[in-house]
Amino acid sequence: MSNLTATEFTTIADIIQKRSGLMLTMDKIYLLETRLTPFARRRGMADYKLLLRDVLANPNDVILTEIIEAMMTNETYFFRDKAPFSNIDEDFLSKFRKQNATEKKLRIWCAACSTGQEPYSLAMMFNEKVVEWQGWSIEILATDISELPLARARAGVYTQFEVQRGLPINLLMKYFTQVDENWKIIPKIASAVKFQKFNLLDSMSGLGCFDLILCRNVLIYFNQAGKIKVLESLERQLNRNGALVLGASEAVFGLLPTLQPSPDLRGFYIRSEPSIASTIAA
Ligand SMILES: C[S@@+](CC[C@H](N)C(=O)[O-])C[C@H]1O[C@@H](n2cnc3c(N)ncnc32)[C@H](O)[C@@H]1O
Repeated sequence: MSNLTATEFTTIADIIQKRSGLMLTMDKIYLLETRLTPFARRRGMADYKLLLRDVLANPNDVILTEIIEAMMTNETYFFRDKAPFSNIDEDFLSKFRKQNATEKKLRIWCAACSTGQEPYSLAMMFNEKVVEWQGWSIEILATDISELPLARARAGVYTQFEVQRGLPINLLMKYFTQVDENWKIIPKIASAVKFQKFNLLDSMSGLGCFDLILCRNVLIYFNQAGKIKVLESLERQLNRNGALVLGASEAVFGLLPTLQPSPDLRGFYIRSEPSIASTIAA
């Protein structure tokens, strides 16, 4: 089968980018091959090029969605990078708890949650401080563009390898039960997180405003225009004194005009003014 032409590649890369934000440059052509060959074979096609040519000739929403899902990088693990979680717990949330002691309401959004380790890490963190959070209404919304990782997140079942990555043994023993060779999160933690399919390129206004948004390790795959679009929308969904947490290596210099980078907490951007969305809602 002949290689994809530059036009074929650009057309498919364009479709993927418009629908998901994922930027594919010609040097990433190998990603199409590695991610889509198994998918093409499952559909009875010998080759990913055949699959792409077929979908270009007969555009099909369901297949395009599956292609985009197959192209996603779902890498994640419990308490990923450690520091953001201790910063959230010991710094951001302990201040937040004092500032909002009357209202006692906290809304958190994990905006690209993959298989759920990030929001479940937060839910375990809250449960570890159950006395301090007594009487609070805490909502953790976790969203992702892809149905497959979300289904795994909702099931809350992780392999031995997955629980060995980042999860302290005492939390494994306390919050998981062993099911054959896997580990299932206990209902108390599972029910603390609401999972929902959501594309970061879509309008966020229906989600309401949040005190803490984690959007880590996803915008690295977007081009500059895509990053700007998503960051502008995320800014609007943050409450006053709310924080946006990005991945430590994500450079957003100048892209968050209404948020201030925290001088002490790497990857944290704080809103000091009320959000546009909350002003409209008031
Ligand atoms: C590398 S994982 C990061 C998971 C987690 N935030 C972490 O840092 O461990 C990136 C996730 O972003 C999701 N994603 C990519 N594009 C998206 C979009 N446009 N809207 C929502 N989620 C998206 C992917 O499906 C994938 O699960």
